[in-house]
Amino acid sequence: MSLDSNIVLIGPMGVGKSTIGRVLSQMTNREFKDTDQVVEEKTGADIPWIFDVEGEEGFRDRESSVLSELLNETGLVLATGGGIVMREANRELLSTQARVVYLTASVNQLLKRTRRDRKRPLLQVDDPKAKIESLINLRHPLYESISHTQISTENRTPKSVAEEIISNL
Ligand code: S3P
Repeated sequence: MSLDSNIVLIGPMGVGKSTIGRVLSQMTNREFKDTDQVVEEKTGADIPWIFDVEGEEGFRDRESSVLSELLNETGLVLATGGGIVMREANRELLSTQARVVYLTASVNQLLKRTRRDRKRPLLQVDDPKAKIESLINLRHPLYESISHTQISTENRTPKSVAEEIISNL
């Protein structure tokens, strides 16, 4: 794979995209970026605020324009928000313009890693486990359809996942 290509991590909330992405960027000498973080910087507000004031669609608009901007750069490791695959235009961009790695984990592990987290508006519900399950049912086929590699993060260190990503590039 060319050094210029962007490596993009996709998958559900709590799967470890940002943590693994940071480690992977160090191991591959690439710059790390995170769509959620860039959206927050550009908006000057955090994600709960954006969902509150502009709704999920407002957030998706911002997320989509950040994604297309970042994919114009080269040599990135890019962590994405779990819902990036909801827009067809994003799926099209990702599948054609990046090396896409789909990270997976069990629902129980995702629940554990997102518990007591107030920064994810979609999980501020009575039954976060059911919500995680329904999001995965909806999104798993979309993640699968655009990924070049699928890697489990279940009970693994970020370093061991990053090593597997590198061996699959
Ligand atoms: C979302 C995932 C979040 C963030 C927003 C919506 C989703 O990112 O983009 O809260 O729809 O799954 P992480 O996957 O980094 O938690």
